[in-house]
Parts: sequence; structure tokens; C-alpha cells
Amino acid sequence: MTTGARALLIAAMVVALVACDNLERQRKARDQAASDFFPNGQVQQAPPPGTVPRGAAAREAELRQRPALTAELLQRGQDRYQVYCTPCHGLAGDGHGTVVARGFPAPPDFTEPRLRAAPEGYFVNVISNGYGQMYSYAARVAPVDRWAIAAYIRALQLSRHAPVGQLPAEDRQALEHAP
Ligand code: HEC
Repeated sequence: MTTGARALLIAAMVVALVACDNLERQRKARDQAASDFFPNGQVQQAPPPGTVPRGAAAREAELRQRPALTAELLQRGQDRYQVYCTPCHGLAGDGHGTVVARGFPAPPDFTEPRLRAAPEGYFVNVISNGYGQMYSYAARVAPVDRWAIAAYIRALQLSRHAPVGQLPAEDRQALEHAP
């Protein structure tokens, strides 16, 4: 490379670096700030009535397709439940998560009669839309994973409230002969 070419290259790099700095320091409006551009004086604007987020219709359609109950689905549900729900609902679903131990309002126990009677779609709906003080997990949990978590909640309920008649013979025997 000739000296001239090298000087040109260095000059180009300096320009590029300065440009980067400008990008970082550009004028911009922050979410919660006031604005004299919009009539309501706020930076954040509500979407125009009737608009839907990109991909929302496809996600809705996916949500209506309940996946078949398989061991893989349950495993996926356990995995996602432990990532997103245990902090508050606890590993056993009894509402004694670590966040609750530090002062967050306690959620109900999944084995309470009302929630044992609730259909799985109810859990899918709570994950999608939130419930009371619990916010929506729609942005974090994909539609098929919501069904997987709902299936796993059902398994958690059964793990502590299985009718004896539905247990496999050997488990029933072990129970009958328990001290
Ligand atoms: C940050 C804590 C927190 C996390 C994380 C959380 N929840 Fe909750 N959840 C709550 C609280 C608090 C309530 C009770 C809300 C109320 O009654 O106002 C609740 C209530 C519920 C209910 C019961 C609704 C009813 O009818 O009583 C279900 C079902 C539920 N959550 C499912 C989930 C699932 C599934 C996840 C994981 C995807 C999850 N939650 C993650 C805090 C949490």
C-alpha cells in the first residue's frame, strides 16, 4: 500500500468513527418525555384505532390450535414453567416462589378447587392476557408454549390431587401398604 493510499484509509476510518459517535449522540425523543410535535404533548402515541400489530393474526390462529398432549409437550411445558412461572408460583405451583418470599403478592395455589376445575384454555388465557396483578407473558411465551405450560400445570395439579382410583395398580398397592 502506498503512503497516499494508507493516509486515505486512515482518513476514511476517522470519518467512520466520527459518524458512529454522531449516531450515538443523535437527537431523539424518549418514551415518557413531553413533545411539542404531537397535539397531546406526549412522545408516546396510541396506535390508530383499528390497527393490529404485525403477525398478530397469525399468532391468534396459532393460539387456537391446541397441540396434542405428548410427553414432549409436557417436558417443554415443565421447562418453560420453570423459566417463567416458578419465581412467583413456585416449583410445585403452590404460590410460594422466591419473589413472593421477598414481598410480591402471593398468587393462588394451582391446586385450589376453582383452578383444578378450570379448563386448560383458562391458563392459556391468563398467560396471554395477564390476570389482576400478574402481567401478560404474551411477549415472552410463544402460543404453543402457552399450551405446553397449561398441560404442565394440569400435571402439577394431578401430582398432588390424583384420585386414588386413577393410580397405576403398583402405586395404589404401595399406597395401601404404606405405614
Ligand atoms: C411476578 C410474579 C408472577 C409470575 C412470574 C407469574 N405469575 Fe401468575 N400470578 C401472579 C399473581 C400475583 C397472581 C394473582 C393475581 C391476582 O389475583 O391479582 C397470579 C395468578 C395466576 C393464575 C390464577 C388466575 C386465577 O384465576 O386466580 C394463573 C393460572 C397464573 N397466574 C399462571 C401463571 C403462569 C402460567 C405463569 C408463567 C407463564 C405465571 N403465572 C407467572 C404472579 C405471577
